[in-house]
Amino acid sequence: MNVHASALAEAHLPDEQTTAFARDAVEALSQQPKRLSPKYFYDAAGSELFEAITRLPEYYPTRTELAILRKRGNEIAAILPRHAALVEFGAGATTKVRLLLEHCRFAAYVPVDISGDFLHAQASGLRRDFPSLAVHPVAADFTAPFALPAAVADLPKVGFFPGSTIGNFEPHEAGGFLKSARNILGERALMIIGADLEKDERVLHDAYNDAAGVTAKFNLNVLVRINRELGGNFDLSAFTHRAIYNREHHRIEMHLVSRKSQTVRMLGTSFAFRPGETIHTENSYKYSLDRFAGLARGAGWRLRQTWTDAAQMFSVHALEAAE
Ligand code: AVJ
Repeated sequence: MNVHASALAEAHLPDEQTTAFARDAVEALSQQPKRLSPKYFYDAAGSELFEAITRLPEYYPTRTELAILRKRGNEIAAILPRHAALVEFGAGATTKVRLLLEHCRFAAYVPVDISGDFLHAQASGLRRDFPSLAVHPVAADFTAPFALPAAVADLPKVGFFPGSTIGNFEPHEAGGFLKSARNILGERALMIIGADLEKDERVLHDAYNDAAGVTAKFNLNVLVRINRELGGNFDLSAFTHRAIYNREHHRIEMHLVSRKSQTVRMLGTSFAFRPGETIHTENSYKYSLDRFAGLARGAGWRLRQTWTDAAQMFSVHALEAAE
């Protein structure tokens, strides 16, 4: 532990997660161009801001995916094995998984999320509403290998990864994640996964530049978090939100743009910013149906079925483990 990390330890008695955040943030801000991982958006305030984003008129993904799951719930259920274990990678609001649980009889539900507190709160609500469902939360980082609970070892497995969270991964990481999910879920597994589609650039642009400024607040919240948790001194009024569509890479990029020449300190390290210099905070990859199918195939899955809304804004795929 270096001097500053140990000073931090005394000042805030940080848990393991804060230490990882500190390490990652210093490293990512030391790079050229400067970066921060989107996984740090989601503290309590950030999770609430994201929930607010999902209700914005411009932000189509959440409501479109929900409409697909509602409308196609019966078709999706029809291809899933009975009495399977449903393994959700990352567990946010339970709205989406409830749609699957209502349409299909699962024996067990295994939500996997880094935040244990959140998991247990969600689990008790589901146990109440689905009394015959065995709920086995796993507190783990789902982007790394983890073990499934022994209680579901003999059940068929169905993975669930909604929300186009896969869009936050670089394409090679997305492939790596799908391979690892295939290994964790095992032979004969199925996977239901949501992916945002490429579309008119204006629509994409507006979804990440909402008129009410909620996405800007969400983006800036990572600096609020650094100030509070890592003793940073970011001046929020000296950074602005920018979201642009990068056509070559098929992705929305979010940045925080420095309005001026300035130096920011955090954990005893100084970070100098030129006017207009940015911190790249998120990529949100958009897939064509073909590119998504190729990604899945390269990771040991066969595309079983795809559902989209009529306007082809969003896609939900059923993958089956290839031999
Ligand atoms: C949760 C990663 C799917 O990329 O659309 C929303 C996050 N960022 N607005 C997305 C997000 C800005 C969201 N994902």
